[in-house]
Amino acid sequence: MDSRSFLDHLLEELPSLEVYRSLELQARAKRYFAELCEGLAAVYPETPALLEQVARVIGRNLAERPQELHELDLVRIHTPDWFQRPEMCGYIAYADRFAGNLRGVTERIPYLKELGIRYLHLLPLLLPREGENDGGYAVADYRRVRPDLGTMDDLEALCTELRREGISLCLDLVLNHVAREHPWAQAARRGDPRYRAYFYVYPDRTIPDQYERTLPEIFPNFAPGNFTWDEELKGWVWTTFNSWQWDVNWSNPRVFLEYLDLILWLANRGVEVFRLDAIAFIWKRLGTNCQNQPEVHALTQALRAAVRIGAPAVAFKAEAIVAPEDLAAYLGTGRHYGKVSELAYHNTLMVQVWSSLASRDTRLFTQALQRFPQKPPSTAWATYLRCHDDIGWAISDTDAAAVGLSGPAHRRFLSEFYKGEFPGSFARGMHFQENPNTGDRRTSGMAASLAGLEAALESGHPRLISLAIERLLLAHAVIIGHGEGIPLIYMGDELGMLNDYEYAQEPAHQDDNRWLHRPRMDWGKAERRKQAGTVEHRLFQGIKALLEARARTPQMHAAFPTRPLWQPNPHLLLLKREHPQGVLVQVYNFSEQEQPFPFEALRQEGIVQPFDCITQAPAPAYLRPYERLWLIQHPL
Ligand code: GLC
Repeated sequence: MDSRSFLDHLLEELPSLEVYRSLELQARAKRYFAELCEGLAAVYPETPALLEQVARVIGRNLAERPQELHELDLVRIHTPDWFQRPEMCGYIAYADRFAGNLRGVTERIPYLKELGIRYLHLLPLLLPREGENDGGYAVADYRRVRPDLGTMDDLEALCTELRREGISLCLDLVLNHVAREHPWAQAARRGDPRYRAYFYVYPDRTIPDQYERTLPEIFPNFAPGNFTWDEELKGWVWTTFNSWQWDVNWSNPRVFLEYLDLILWLANRGVEVFRLDAIAFIWKRLGTNCQNQPEVHALTQALRAAVRIGAPAVAFKAEAIVAPEDLAAYLGTGRHYGKVSELAYHNTLMVQVWSSLASRDTRLFTQALQRFPQKPPSTAWATYLRCHDDIGWAISDTDAAAVGLSGPAHRRFLSEFYKGEFPGSFARGMHFQENPNTGDRRTSGMAASLAGLEAALESGHPRLISLAIERLLLAHAVIIGHGEGIPLIYMGDELGMLNDYEYAQEPAHQDDNRWLHRPRMDWGKAERRKQAGTVEHRLFQGIKALLEARARTPQMHAAFPTRPLWQPNPHLLLLKREHPQGVLVQVYNFSEQEQPFPFEALRQEGIVQPFDCITQAPAPAYLRPYERLWLIQHPL
């Protein structure tokens, strides 16, 4: 099929399109047709028939796209860097835990605006299965909202309100699996062959055992193995995560069409960013770990091309928590360069911030960033300190060895440190999914508790409290200042909210200690942000000031690369951003001791009269404990 007949099928679904809109659509279809074909052909043999169906799905959804969203599409086409701009900043929250329900979220928009938020990721809110549901990541119906949160109309109203206030809504698209209770899974269990083919089902253990030889376990404690026997299916169904999360079979083109339709339908409700949950897992290949397979990127390319035609305002964010060498492909490498997700998580940055806070040594950090792949200039990372998941200690053995450390020993150190077991540790966290076979141990905990605020408050010692606050501000300054992407603030971190030990009392949560760091928003605590001298005031105003500084600093545009600088002081991290308006060098002191100012390193970058963009004042002569500076040559 050529682009002309593709467009004809599309237009058949849009009989009364105005001339201008039709021209515009033609331009988009022409632009993205080849990318769509290339992506599909890499995966599905029956491409011509499939293309017609893709055109129809896009056309049907376009016919229903509200006028206001068409306008947004146009604005975005003319502002392709909208998500890369220095003023972009995100907030991550559970709707219920943040504000009770979707209407409650609408009422809290002023709070988000006060902080400087332009993007809101509401964690899973579509109808999950009853009982355990992995924090909503086991979806039973993608077209319904969890009833306690509201309705689809409420979601639409919230999106509209957010959009008018300049905030984009990001929603999870769980596309690796559905709940066992989802209609597709139910139909499969009733014996419908069409839907059985939506899943990977094997009559006996022969094939599952072959796969298991090379598959890791994601939840070794509460969901060992990757396959689950289902009595009604009379088969072993693929379940990478929990036994009630069934992996869908993306080698079936119908699955592609279902998800494309879903994305466009949700985009028509006003969702602007889709977080492609667990995207690394969607293609399976015997003899591999079934992550990061080339088909994942071909599929993303095809989905994105179709969505660029049907809802160009939309961006994709890949949730691929994988090694740096595999991660780059999610923003596009090789023939997928610039054709896949616009955003992906910078997991390495997050891990290295915690690693350097524990060791007070930045050499591994500098080394890891040095080796970190460059992203395409049209994309951005999501930079974050915490999220709703655990922290996996993704320290590469190669990087560790390059700075004289042992990878396994450093990983062990970090998990012990953040559990609070290591002598002198300031942290209060918990081990998550300890795996005796691999020695792997991940960590749960709120940022403030991991950074020492919980222990400091208990001690009542003002100096320790102050240090913990400075540590948190330093950590936030790194993710906000890094500059290659959208910084994401995790709900409660802006106020220093601590671990929520109550999770252990809730039957649906007690086995999953990630709920330790999924607290309910404490609005009483939030009120104290207005009261000078409180912990909340120092943190909230400190983070807000960083976001304001970022917004007014052109060097923070994500199109420009960040490079770490080697310099002799192992307590300091220096990050350099080159920009046509002048170089910017960030200086971070990862120790609780004063450090000399790195004049020489700055001089080498042409900064002889350093001016700090955060305080808007000349740089100090020495660095305070946990100091953070974003330096340019003095503008006067
Ligand atoms: C993602 C989510 C995580 C969930 C998993 C399975 O990694 O962030 O919370 O458990 O996907 O859906």
